[in-house]
Amino acid sequence: MKIRALALALGVAASGAVSAAGEVEVLHWWTSGGEAAALNVLKDDLSSKGVSWADMPVAGGGGESAMTVLRARVTSNNAPTAAQMLGYDILDWGKQGAAADLNAVAAKEGWDAVVPAALQNFAKHDGKWISAPVNVHSTNWVWANKAIFDELGLSAPINFDELVATLEAIKKAGYTPLAHGGQAWQEATIFDSVVLATGGVGFYRKALVDLDADALGSDTMKTVFDRMAILRSYVDDNFSGRDWNLASAMVIEKKAGMQIMGDWAKGEFLNAGQKPGDDFMCFRFPGTSGAVTFNSDQFMMFKVGSDRRDAQNQLASSIMAPSFQSAFNVVKGSVPARTDVSDADFDACGKKGMRDLASANANNTLLGSLAHGHAAPASVKNAMYDVITAHFNGEYSSADAVSELVAAVDAAK
Ligand code: BGC
Repeated sequence: MKIRALALALGVAASGAVSAAGEVEVLHWWTSGGEAAALNVLKDDLSSKGVSWADMPVAGGGGESAMTVLRARVTSNNAPTAAQMLGYDILDWGKQGAAADLNAVAAKEGWDAVVPAALQNFAKHDGKWISAPVNVHSTNWVWANKAIFDELGLSAPINFDELVATLEAIKKAGYTPLAHGGQAWQEATIFDSVVLATGGVGFYRKALVDLDADALGSDTMKTVFDRMAILRSYVDDNFSGRDWNLASAMVIEKKAGMQIMGDWAKGEFLNAGQKPGDDFMCFRFPGTSGAVTFNSDQFMMFKVGSDRRDAQNQLASSIMAPSFQSAFNVVKGSVPARTDVSDADFDACGKKGMRDLASANANNTLLGSLAHGHAAPASVKNAMYDVITAHFNGEYSSADAVSELVAAVDAAK
């Protein structure tokens, strides 16, 4: 009230900066160097509007730990203003009646017209906007060390056999071929690409989105697991439990040839001062070009008291501003969640990401990432994680993994 009175006295009552003053408490899992740099773009933007930021970081790529902490917070009636969230998790909170209604700000700013339907499907519940999408990431990428590729005369492989030949050449030269962190979500991230490369768009959809038992139990799925085992043979001995950003660092430091990871990895390369084309290469996982396995980070807004609503709306509005979507995603490695943002400030990988997303959207080859919560609800996703990771660690043969997958999905549905 005091601030409003002062603002009126100063004649600036209509300025967003003053009316939005307040605090937002935000739960997220952006704790790596590149992620923190991107988050700072958001914090600074809000601070310039008079909104302060109470940080609730919960480390752990893919956000599983963050979701566990969030559940505990909401259950004890202590929901944050907003939480970083993926796909089906957003819809779950919507169903539980925990979400704020952002329709007023969304209507005023015309979100319906600029956010692709594939994202709106996860940002709305019951016709109401409950979440603000900040980006689109995709998981079917490979990040490679340019110096190693140049030294060995290698170029980007275009199919699985070429990928294996490339990994083999890197191994012979004494580098770790594949930088990988042994965590279930990282193995599932590779699985997204291998399913798409092996079975194509139709198979990916049938198996991972429709959860069709025949597709899940097919020979094609056995080939997927065989290929996962081949990739497993190119990781180093110390991969267990390694965080994804430390795997990126192996490529950055020329210890490893490549990493199969979503484009948040680019944030690590940039944060280390590297440039695409000069120091590192980005290319689509061999055999997947033309399609995109996407995940969109959104900030799902929780119901808050009237004292926190202005700041919450300002957070939503800031996230959706076109200039912010450009500035943030240039640093994060992702691409804008709005279709009307220019690619002028993006590097070559970002420009390619934007082109690929637009054409996948137009050609119906845009697929939700299983690993990152956009293909199936958390119960199914976690059931698949268990099988994928057990197989990766040699607990199942490929044939056993296929039957375990069918059974696990059936039980979790
Ligand atoms: C998120 C990214 C994040 C990555 C690693 C993904 O699920 O969408 O924003 O950088 O996990 O933490």
